[in-house]
Amino acid sequence: MHYRRIGTLDGATERDDAAYLDFIEGMKVFDHDAVEPAVWQRYEQAVAEFEATHGRPPATVDEMQPFLAHLPVLQAHQRLFRSTQDMRAVALPETYRKREAELLRELEEAERKGPGRLILDPTLAYPDYFAKVEFHRQPGGYAGDPLAGYLYHYGTKMLYFGRNDNDERNQDMIDRAPLPPDGRVDRVLDLACAIGQSTTAWKKRLPHAEVWGIDIAAPMVRYAHKRAVEMGIDVTFAQMDAERLRFPDDHFDLVFANILFHEVPVEVGERVIAEVQRVLRPGGIFIVHDVGQAKDWSPLDAYVRDFIIRDNSEPWERGWAEWDFTGALERVGFHSIERVAMSPQNIRPYVSSNPLRWVAVK
Ligand SMILES: C[S@@+](CC[C@H](N)C(=O)[O-])C[C@H]1O[C@@H](n2cnc3c(N)ncnc32)[C@H](O)[C@@H]1O
Repeated sequence: MHYRRIGTLDGATERDDAAYLDFIEGMKVFDHDAVEPAVWQRYEQAVAEFEATHGRPPATVDEMQPFLAHLPVLQAHQRLFRSTQDMRAVALPETYRKREAELLRELEEAERKGPGRLILDPTLAYPDYFAKVEFHRQPGGYAGDPLAGYLYHYGTKMLYFGRNDNDERNQDMIDRAPLPPDGRVDRVLDLACAIGQSTTAWKKRLPHAEVWGIDIAAPMVRYAHKRAVEMGIDVTFAQMDAERLRFPDDHFDLVFANILFHEVPVEVGERVIAEVQRVLRPGGIFIVHDVGQAKDWSPLDAYVRDFIIRDNSEPWERGWAEWDFTGALERVGFHSIERVAMSPQNIRPYVSSNPLRWVAVK
């Protein structure tokens, strides 16, 4: 019998584990609320000093490197981030493994239940760019552990400091998202849905629409379906490669992708957007949210993102950061493309993982 449930999340197996996970999350909150602001404060002072000496603000990360490399509060912040990720990577599998048989049974039983459906594809072969990476240093990555959905859910709970335990962030993002210009939404596709937090949010917003969530990773969609069953939300989850969508042309009114593109190589992303263009109906829209890109970064952002790319296992984010995504959307036939960069405050690390939004019309 596990210790507790946290919002829509299955919590730790034992009381001691729960206390330890709370401690890790507390350290992350401390880092975010107390240490990070101190980093920015020191950084802004250094920028002012640089301007006083050079008569202009620093333009590149190299110009700030001597300062950044010897800033104890920044090193403390990076160490805290790294260590809490390490602690999480050990503690989460440990606690869930204690009731692995029960959790696997739970996933299997949910497969036979509704509302909604789950479609798995046992013939799907995971591509190397995906299967060989432990994104965010989650042991086994998205597909290598049958409990990956549980690990991801608790892992992102910590990343969002407990502020998404009832999908508040996902729901808010979906509730504020635009709809196609003609207002018609009968079918929605949540692309790379992971554990389906945006998928169920779309169904809550548009109860009359048919809502699909697809993801390449079987453990993700299995957990997503189990969660939707428990929530009583009627959506369909399918294991599918976004490069080869098994839907007819002109099928969906709206396709949504939250934080997918920074986790795939650019050439994969190019094929994915061509597929999205194919399955959208004329007048339908593609909404993309993702992490920031280099052209919006201050030297400190560049320095910290570089650390994340190396130390938090995000090998494809460098390509994403430099990618002219608007141009790529245009080349596959989208028009009326809007790119919105949120305020620099939101681009700062960990404050918001998806500060950029594109809306494109087919
Ligand atoms: C950061 S998660 C997405 C989070 C999710 N969209 C949300 O709003 O909560 C990235 C997801 O992309 C999936 N993914 C990566 N490559 C894919 C592909 N080629 N086709 C489908 N899904 C893919 C991964 O399995 C993972 O679940």
